[in-house]
Parts: sequence; structure tokens; C-alpha cells
Amino acid sequence: MSGRPIGDGASARLDPHNDIADIDRRVFGGFVEHLGRHIYSGIFEPGHPTADAAGFRTDVIELVRELGVSSIRYPGGNFVSGYRWEDGIGPVDERPTRLDLAWHSTETNEVGLHEFVAWLDRVGSDLMLAVNLGTRDTAEALDLLEYANARVPTAWTARRAANGHPEPFGVKMWCLGNEMDGPWQLGHRNADDYGKLASRTAKAMRMLDPTIQLVACGSSARSMPTFGTWERTVLEHTIDDVDFISCHAYYQEQGGDAQEFLASAVDMKMFIESVITTADAVAAARKTDKRIDISFDEWNVWYLFNDDGTMNEKSEDEWPVAPRLLEDVYSVLDAVVFGDLLITLLQHADRVRSASLAQLVNVIAPIMTEPGGPAWRQTTFFPFSLTSRLAQGRAVNVPVRSGSFSSSRFGDVDAVNAVATIDAAGASLFLVNRSTTEGGPVRIDLRPLQDFIERTVSLSETHQLADDDIYAVNTLAHPDRVGVRAVDSASVVDGFLEIDLPAVSWTALRLE
Ligand code: AHR
Repeated sequence: MSGRPIGDGASARLDPHNDIADIDRRVFGGFVEHLGRHIYSGIFEPGHPTADAAGFRTDVIELVRELGVSSIRYPGGNFVSGYRWEDGIGPVDERPTRLDLAWHSTETNEVGLHEFVAWLDRVGSDLMLAVNLGTRDTAEALDLLEYANARVPTAWTARRAANGHPEPFGVKMWCLGNEMDGPWQLGHRNADDYGKLASRTAKAMRMLDPTIQLVACGSSARSMPTFGTWERTVLEHTIDDVDFISCHAYYQEQGGDAQEFLASAVDMKMFIESVITTADAVAAARKTDKRIDISFDEWNVWYLFNDDGTMNEKSEDEWPVAPRLLEDVYSVLDAVVFGDLLITLLQHADRVRSASLAQLVNVIAPIMTEPGGPAWRQTTFFPFSLTSRLAQGRAVNVPVRSGSFSSSRFGDVDAVNAVATIDAAGASLFLVNRSTTEGGPVRIDLRPLQDFIERTVSLSETHQLADDDIYAVNTLAHPDRVGVRAVDSASVVDGFLEIDLPAVSWTALRLE
């Protein structure tokens, strides 16, 4: 497949009447799993020169704050389906060491619920907790909910107080297991069995705390053989009991076909729209007005497969502690696809009300660390931090007229994709040029925006991620090789914004 020009110039109109919905800040969520070096030597490294009294790396805390992560899903992932949460509470030296079957590793349990909540307080994010519905059942989920959220004196809340937290943690968002459709998952079930388990667990959890919001497991990928029927069956059981259904999606370049990889956001769009359609069809058949939202609680670029289709990641030692697993190094190309995925989430802000970038530190992550050494930003850090900071208020569709390229999976794909957001102080615009071969100018009519706010606007910030080498990366040796640059050529004249979009580029603009 080859890329074609974005045209003599692409054009668009930023019209606030094309609004989608207010953006739920939970869309800028992250995900921390007990996996590889995410916790141990990632966020937690007692003895590190920057470690605080609790053993948390303050260099990582600062980067997570800069990233702008609203809520963080914890503790898994595949890990949660074998996890006993009680192992992670009480005096650290009395906690058991366990085998983690999901990642063939050893879990020391030095970090558990209390430590993680203390870390979240430092980074300024909310907790989204997953319960184990793989090797466990409703009773253990209720125990954890009572421990975390109950106010009245009980055996569990007394233990919480004895462990240093008399006040409830007040966790609002709860995931009912993880990827239960996946044959790799501990306790994997068919949709009918999982739907029944999720429904009875959700009902019981709501009896304990009616204020919580619940996420049922959707599909692990749109390519799963059960995709579609899984969502329908699970929601037929749970539609009255849950608020969200999850989507998970990971993308990677395969066979050296960068142009096809740059079409990944089309898959995410089709995924989201199919799940919404399915959820609304279940609601219609049940004659309920209830609208189930999407929690896109795992999304990223992940080099999971080799070109021959075999899986990439294996723990090589016998049950190592904190091995180097899933430590993908992200290129400019990866970051452009990643930025496009964020644009796609915002284009569906009316139904995607929560999302979690998978993951945060060292493990398919925007932040990397070296034990005893520095922490640095991967290329994907920049689109996330900028979108989280600049995308405020209401999301607005910005249809773009541009050239297209031909994808073997999706047919003709627009070269340029965009979304805007509008808030009290101004507007932000996010653009991606997916063409591998052609850059070019984009002209955007801002007059509808100016009429709407009854003021002229001017550019206050421009940020662009592009490079002559689309495979350039940041590493321990060269942590600042890739970054974003201001776009000197961008201008607003007579209500029209003009900007050059290089091939394979992601751009964020702020208008005030
Ligand atoms: O994020 C890595 C893994 O991907 C998670 O543990 C699992 O839920 C998914 O398959």
C-alpha cells in the first residue's frame, strides 16, 4: 500500500455547533499493573536517590503529574485474575510472596492497596479498582469493597484503620474482572457464565455501596472471535447492573507497513461504534432508556506480535521478581498513531466516558526508568500530556477534506484527522497527518468559532511531533532525542488558520 498526497491542501471548518459532548476527565486515565518493572524499580524503588520516605521515586511522581493522568486503573490487567488483595495489606514484613501466573513472575507484595493510594495522593490521580473474577468470586469482591469504602465499624474497616487508614478510600470506579473473554485469562469464561457472575457481583456490590460505578468486561480486541456476541450476551445479563462496558485495543506496525499502521485509529473508531450499537440494541430489546458508556480501559501501541504472528513477550527466568517485560521503546511513528487514537477517543466523547492508557511506567509506557538511574519521557508522553492539558470543556467534530490512502483493512482512509475542544478560555485543535509520503498545508475556517464566541481568536500555543526519521526514539543514552516543536509557520489571518502538516505528524494548537 502506498500513501497519496493530502491534496493541494486540506481544509476544514471549526464550527462549535458540531459539538459532541462535554469531555469526561476520566478519558485521560492511566493503568498501573503489577507487571515487570512497573511497580518495583518503576514507581517504587527504596534507596533510589530520588526516593521519598515511603520508597516512591519522586522523579517518576513529577513525570506522572506532568503527564496529567486523571484516574488510574489498578492492579491489573491479567495480574488481577490471580490476585489476593489481602496479601497487599498489613505489615509489609508479614506479607506473603506469591507466584504471579499471568506474567510468570514472583510478587513480593511490598506494594499493596495502602501504598498505592498514598502514591496516587502524591500524583494527584483517582483510583479505579479491578476485582478478581478469575480465581475468585462475589464474596471476595465484597470484602474488598467493604474494606475500601465502608464507613461503619466492621471487622474489615477495623483492619483498614489498624493499617493506617481509618477514613474510607471512597473508590468510585470498579472493574468487574479483566478480559474474561480471553483464553489466556485465569478463570476465562464464556459470555453467559461471565455475564451471570458479573451481574450477581454487581448487584451485591451495589447493595453495599450504591454510589459506585461498575465496568463489565467487553472484548480484549475487536479481532476476538467472540467480539460482538460477547458484548451482547454480557449486557443482556448486566445492563441493569453496570454503567460501562470495557474495550481494549493495542496496535503495532507489522511487516514494515507504516502506512497501514497509521490507519489504526479507524479500527478504534469501528470498535467504539460497534460496541455502542450493540449496547443500544440490547437496551432497545429490553425496552430500557439506559445508555451504557464505554470504558476504553486499555489502549496503546504494543509490539505484542512478531512478524510471523508469534507472541513477543515471555519471562525467561524461573519466576523472576520484577523482570524487564513489555519494555517497548516508542518511535515518532508510534507517537503519531498514539495521538490519533487520542483524537478518536475525543471524537466519541459522548459515549467514551472513561479510558486508561495501558500502561504508565516501564511497561508499554510513556515513562521509562533505570534502576538507580534517571527517568525519561518516551515519544508517546508528548501527545498524552498535551492532549490532557489542552483538551478541556466540550469536544467538537472537525470534518477535514483531505486526500486519502488505501488501507488493506479499511479501504480509503482520510490522510488528515482532527478534533477540537472548546472551553471558557478558548479552543484547542488536534490534527494528525497519517500520510507517509506527503505533507502539506491545512486551512481551517475559524469564522464559525469567532461568531460563536463573538471574539477574534489568535494562536497562543503550537506543538508538533514530526521528524525526518520516523523511527527516532528516546532512550537512556539519548532521553531528549525526540520532543515537540513550536510551528513557526502557523498563522491566523482573517479568521483562517493555516498550518503545515508534515507527513507522519501530530499537532496540537491552542487558540485564545
Ligand atoms: O497491558 C498488558 C496486558 O494486556 C494486560 O495485563 C491485559 O489485560 C491485556 O491483555
